[in-house]
Amino acid sequence: MGFESAYESKVANDEGRFLYTAEEDAVWRDLIERQDARLRGRAIPEVIDGLARLALPRHRVPQVREVEARLRAEADFGVEAVPAMISEEAFFDLLASRRFPVATFVRKREELDYLKEPDIFHEVYGHCALLTNQRYADAVQQFGLAAQQLGRDYFAPLYRLFWFTVEFGLTRTRDGLRIYGAGITSSAEETVYCLEASDVDRRPFDPVEICATDYRIDVLQPRYYVLDRLEDLFALSASLTESLPRWCDRAAAQTAA
Ligand SMILES: [Fe+2]
Repeated sequence: MGFESAYESKVANDEGRFLYTAEEDAVWRDLIERQDARLRGRAIPEVIDGLARLALPRHRVPQVREVEARLRAEADFGVEAVPAMISEEAFFDLLASRRFPVATFVRKREELDYLKEPDIFHEVYGHCALLTNQRYADAVQQFGLAAQQLGRDYFAPLYRLFWFTVEFGLTRTRDGLRIYGAGITSSAEETVYCLEASDVDRRPFDPVEICATDYRIDVLQPRYYVLDRLEDLFALSASLTESLPRWCDRAAAQTAA
């Protein structure tokens, strides 16, 4: 938000299909091949399982409606093709109605490693993989419901909680630290960096602190919040509407002290 996009989202043709060039299909193939290898042993098993359930095409960009059919079958969640950036209100309304916004453009080859705008690889390979998990899908919907119930005053802290979980979350597992955030699972560079870089701040998950923590969308993250287990996100999201005002009050009191 708040910057000019270098991309234009694709518009569906009369048959509801989005048309991609051979180069865009090739970029997709390269992205998926590299990232499948990189996520092994780094992402939580639910992400790997979700990718198997989505069964994405490997040699061409998937169509929004085929992703929709898979997600509906797995977790009664949907997707909605949108321009690269949409309003906060539209974003939360989609989540509340169990639909995830999907920008339909594909990144350029020069930005294979990292881009600040969500492209279809980020949305589908990143977000939709885990949205095949019913409990995770329920948790994502809760962000939208909380936004509707609490109103605009709470959009900023909700975005921050979303950012440090759904987008850039890490969690402990029996096998060690693992990735679940879609901003990471769709970035080859950040997948390695977030777990292995020595100058990264990996902190215990703290919703009060997150409510007061700003973030940047144009750099590898300097800070990650680590859940003890993925189930903690399900508990957090289920109590979001009730807990968020309290967390925000505590964050304000700490800032003032
Ligand atoms: Fe995202």
